[in-house]
Amino acid sequence: MTILAPNSVQARDIASVVHPQTNLATHLTQGPAVIERGEGIYIFDDSGERFLDAAAGLWCASLGYASERLAKVAYEQMRRLGYYHFYRHTTNEPGVDLAEALLRIAPVPMSKVLFQCSGSEANDTAIKLVWYYHAAIGKPEKRKIIGRRMGYHGSTSASISASGKSDMHADFGLPFPGFLHTEYPHFYRHHEEGETEEQFASRMADALEALILAEGPETCAAFIGEPVMGAGGGLTPPRSYWEKMQAVIRKYDMLFIADEVICGFGRTGNMWGSQTYDLQPDMISCAKALSAGMQPISALLVNNRVFEAMLDESRKLGNFAHGFTYAGHPVTTAVAMETLRIYEEMDMIGHVQRVGPYMQQVLARFAEHPLVGDVRGVGLLTGMELVADKATRAAFDPARKVGPTVDRHARANGLITRFIGDRIAFSPPLIITEAEVDDMAARLGRALDGTWGEIRAN
Ligand SMILES: Cc1ncc(COP(=O)(O)O)c(C=O)c1O
Repeated sequence: MTILAPNSVQARDIASVVHPQTNLATHLTQGPAVIERGEGIYIFDDSGERFLDAAAGLWCASLGYASERLAKVAYEQMRRLGYYHFYRHTTNEPGVDLAEALLRIAPVPMSKVLFQCSGSEANDTAIKLVWYYHAAIGKPEKRKIIGRRMGYHGSTSASISASGKSDMHADFGLPFPGFLHTEYPHFYRHHEEGETEEQFASRMADALEALILAEGPETCAAFIGEPVMGAGGGLTPPRSYWEKMQAVIRKYDMLFIADEVICGFGRTGNMWGSQTYDLQPDMISCAKALSAGMQPISALLVNNRVFEAMLDESRKLGNFAHGFTYAGHPVTTAVAMETLRIYEEMDMIGHVQRVGPYMQQVLARFAEHPLVGDVRGVGLLTGMELVADKATRAAFDPARKVGPTVDRHARANGLITRFIGDRIAFSPPLIITEAEVDDMAARLGRALDGTWGEIRAN
């Protein structure tokens, strides 16, 4: 057990804070890592140790960890108008600028934008609008929301219900009734002997259709999915997957919500994951890189079909009775707008299209490593799966804690990665250079070798 000085940040943290996604009991003795500052894609802890952050925090620090330019925009906006709301016919220019910009760059024609503070709230709003839409068109029984096992859409009650993370449902009494989960497209782990990606994709679409038929199509309202599954392990869809899934969604007249919270703003090598995979969603949720992670803001884009129904409800009920205090916040929207300008000026998409393939190529070499069974990705997002036996794809016994061991070695080598079970997800800040990709790979190589040495020694 580490002895902490009573007035240290760590000791004060233990006494005062509850951390998300943390073992609260372990935290009492282990305490937190204190991150003090950032520079480009590197962060520094309180001892001055430097770490390359291959996770961009939580997939969001697209421009790295400090920005004079965004700081100035926030400062100026706070001096002019540091807060006002969007309620009851009130607006402000930064919010309108950002809404227009999002509609301009949307991957498919979209009609309007709703603002929130987080990805969870954007998806929560999308789910409410699915119900509202079907009520408006006279099909109030069409309410079931279908997500995917291992899908992740946020932590609010509805968005975690749509998510397929059983560990995040346990003992919260969730998911709510009416939230269903179909198979998820983890081709490497779940393909059958000799099955092609196309055949696997057909099997996934058939499973979705079977679920809809079993539940009754007249009750199935919407499908929600991430173009690339992030918190499910950095899983890129197999060939023809989205084409086949969308055909089923359309066949049963369900709305399609594309959760672009991770994929939006360049991560997959296009502005949107929906462009990379040719998606035609009715609603798009986005957050994270929208403000380079520097302000808590999310947006939900809705198409005309959805907006027309919202209009009808407003005429009927006299009000659109939904909203958040910080929706359209002038500071968060101003910072997000400036972030989009920066992306355009630096040709962020072009940068990802150049560096992304390099990162994929460098990480693909780790498929040769004795611990690694699968490496696949797109743009600047890669999933790497650790296996006990490459030939049979057998997973490590969780009791061996191979993931945490790699994580320990990675940190000892100044590398932050994101572990999801036996998969490592790589999603560095989008500004990463080829030289920094090499740095990341060198640190990863040492971490994997260190882990392999430890496994063999035991
Ligand atoms: C795809 C996806 N959707 C939604 C969310 C939830 O976003 P937030 O944590 O901002 O509520 C996340 C968070 O990682 C995510 O990865």
